[in-house]
Amino acid sequence: MTATSATRSPRLLVISGSARTGSLNSELAELAAHKARALGAETSTVDLRALGLPVFDADLLQAQGMPQGALQLRDWMAQHDGVLLASPEYNALPTPLFINAFDWLSVVQAEGEAPSGTGATAGKPVGLLAASPGALGGIRALPIVRTYLSTNFAMVVVPEQLALPLADQQLSAERADRERLAKPELDAVLDRLVASVVKQARWRLA
Ligand SMILES: Cc1cc2nc3c(=O)[nH]c(=O)nc-3n(C[C@H](O)[C@H](O)[C@H](O)COP(=O)(O)O)c2cc1C
Repeated sequence: MTATSATRSPRLLVISGSARTGSLNSELAELAAHKARALGAETSTVDLRALGLPVFDADLLQAQGMPQGALQLRDWMAQHDGVLLASPEYNALPTPLFINAFDWLSVVQAEGEAPSGTGATAGKPVGLLAASPGALGGIRALPIVRTYLSTNFAMVVVPEQLALPLADQQLSAERADRERLAKPELDAVLDRLVASVVKQARWRLA
C-alpha cells in the first residue's frame, strides 16, 4: 500500500545554530531528535555550514543568482513537516550562521512546483532549544528567534522551549546515557517540547 499523507510518519528537520566541532547545541539537537524518533517521527539533520552560504549580499544575489545552498535549504524545508532548532546565543543574539541561512531562505522565490522559502516554512511547527556553558543557557536569544520565525517565516513556534544552562556539565554528565538530560526537570521540559512539535506535525498530516 502506498503511504498517504495521513498515514506516514511526521518528518522533522533538525538544525543546530552552531557548526562547531563538539557543539553543545548540536548535541542537544540530536538528543531532541532521538526523543522525536521514539515518538514515531523521522528526522534529518541539517549542517548549515555545509550549505556554503556567503554572508547575505543583495548585489551578489543580483549578479550571481540564488546560491545552491539556499535552494537546498528551501527543498529540505518543503520536504519536512516541522523543525527542531537548537542555537547558542552570541552576545544575546541568535548566531550569524542561523540568521544568515534563514535570511537567504527568506528571499528564495517560488519556481514551478517548488515553493518560496517562506512558503516552505509557513504553518510548520518549530521547537526552540538553546545550550550554553553559561548560567543563562542562551535564553536571551530565544524570544528573538521566536519572533523571527513566527513573523517572517509564519512558523508555529510551540510554547515550550528549553534554554540549557551549564550545558557542558549537563551534557557531559549524561554522555554515558545519551537518551535524556541529567536533570529530570529539564528532561521533562525537553520531552514536552518534542512531543508538542511531533503532535503539531501530525496534525498537519491529518
Ligand atoms: C561571539 C560569542 C559570543 C557569545 N555570547 C554568549 C552569550 O551572549 N551568552 C552565552 O550564554 N554564551 C555566549 N557565548 C558562549 C557560547 O554559549 C559557547 O561558546 C557555546 O559553547 C556555543 O555553542 P556550541 O557549543 O553549540 O558551539 C558566546 C560565544 C561566542 C563565540
